Amino acid sequence: MMKEINIGLLGLGTVGTGVAKILIENRELISSRVGVVLNLKTVAVKDMNKNRDIRIDHRDMTDDAFKVVNDPDIDIIVEMIGGETIARDLILEAIENGKQVVTANKALLANQGTHLMKAAVEKRVDLAFEASIGGCMPIVKTIRESLVGNHIKAMTGILNGTCNYILSKITDDGSTFETALAEAQKKGYAETNPTLDVEGTDTAHKLAILTALAYGMEINLKDIYTEGISKITPMDIEYARQFGYRIKLLAISKNHEDSVEARVHPTMIPFNNLLSNVNGCLNSITVSADAAGDMLHYGYGAGMMPTASAVISDLADLARNLASESSGRIPLLAYQVDKIKKIRVMPIEDIVTHYYIRFAAQDHPGVLSKISGALGNYGISIKSVHQKGRKANGSVPIVMLSHTAREANMLKALKEITDLNSVTDKPCLIRIEDENYEE
Ligand code: HSE
Repeated sequence: MMKEINIGLLGLGTVGTGVAKILIENRELISSRVGVVLNLKTVAVKDMNKNRDIRIDHRDMTDDAFKVVNDPDIDIIVEMIGGETIARDLILEAIENGKQVVTANKALLANQGTHLMKAAVEKRVDLAFEASIGGCMPIVKTIRESLVGNHIKAMTGILNGTCNYILSKITDDGSTFETALAEAQKKGYAETNPTLDVEGTDTAHKLAILTALAYGMEINLKDIYTEGISKITPMDIEYARQFGYRIKLLAISKNHEDSVEARVHPTMIPFNNLLSNVNGCLNSITVSADAAGDMLHYGYGAGMMPTASAVISDLADLARNLASESSGRIPLLAYQVDKIKKIRVMPIEDIVTHYYIRFAAQDHPGVLSKISGALGNYGISIKSVHQKGRKANGSVPIVMLSHTAREANMLKALKEITDLNSVTDKPCLIRIEDENYEE
C-alpha cells in the first residue's frame, strides 16, 4: 500500500478551495506521480455552515485552526488564511510541532519571513512558498533550483494580476479604473484590501522575496521603492501608445554586486518587449542569468486554480522530502543560511534611467523655456518635446522624453518646475525601460 501523507488545510477561501479541489479530484494522478498519497485530512474554516462550491464532509472540518496544527497525525499544514497575525502564529506553532508548511502568504513572508524561516531551519522543516509569487509560474523553483549554477543579473516582472488587468482594460477597452478594479475583485484576483494591489505593495512583497532568493540576501521590503498605478491617467496611456510604449506595473531588480536595484513602479516599455504583450490578469517575469542567458515565465498570476496549482507543487515536494526523510534539503532562501548577506538596496534617487514627464502649463510664450531651463540646471537633456491636445482649464499638456538622467536630478528639477507660476498641476513622471532608447 502506498504511504499516506496527511494534510491540514487552513482556510477555504479562493485559493484554499482550489487546493482542496485538486487534492480531491486529482488524488490518483498526484499519487501516481509523487509516490505517496496526499490525503486531505482536515480543513479549518471560520464558518462551518457557509455555503461553498466544494463539498467537504463536516467530520473533516473544524473551526479551530490551532487544533489542526496540533494534530499529531497531520504531516503538512497548508496556510491559506492570509493576514499577518493569526497566520503567523499558526505557522510558527506548526513549525514548533515539526510539521512542514506551505503558504502563499507573500505579505507575511515579506514582512516577517526572516523570523519564520529561522524557526523552520532550527526545526529542520520545510516552509514552501511557490504560490506566493506569480501564481502558477514556477519562479521560486526556477531561481532556487534550476538556476543554482548561475549568477542572476536581473529580473523584471509583471507580478500583480489585478494591476495588469486594470491597465489592460483601460488601454485596450477604454474601461475606467473603477470598473476594471471591480471586475478584478469579482474574478477573485484582488487582495481583500485592493489598495495593496493598486498601490504596488503586493508587487513589492513579491519582489522582496525574489530579490532575496536571487542574490543571497536578507528579505528587505522596507527599502524597495514602491509606486502603484492609481495616478496613471488614460491620457498618459494614450501618449505612451503614440511613442510606441505600453504602461505596465513592473517589478525591477538588478544586481550590481555591492548593491541591488529593487523597485516597483509604472513603467513604459516598447511594444516589442515581450512583457508589453502580457495582458489581463496574466503575470510574467524575465530572468537574466550568466550561464542560462535570458529566460521568460508567463502564466496566470492570480485566481483560484492557477495559484492552487503552485500550492500542490509545493505539497508534492514536501511529501517527497518526508517520504525520503530529506526535509530541509533545499535551503529556503536558495543560499545556505550562513551565506546570506545584507546587501544594500539602492535608493530610488540613485537610479539612472529615461523618463516620460508630463506637465500641465499655461500656453504662454516662454513657459517651455523655463521648464527646459530647470531641467538643464540639473544636467537633464531632453530627447523630445510634445505639446498636444486642447486647452483644459486654461492649461495645455506638455510632454517630454528625457535622455538618461539620474533620478535625484530629475526630482530636483521637477520640484523647481512645480514651483513655476505657469505650471498649473503636479508633473507626472513615468520611467521608461527601453534597451533601444538613445542614451
Ligand atoms: N492580488 C494578487 C494579484 C493575487 O492581483 O496578483 C496574487 O498574488
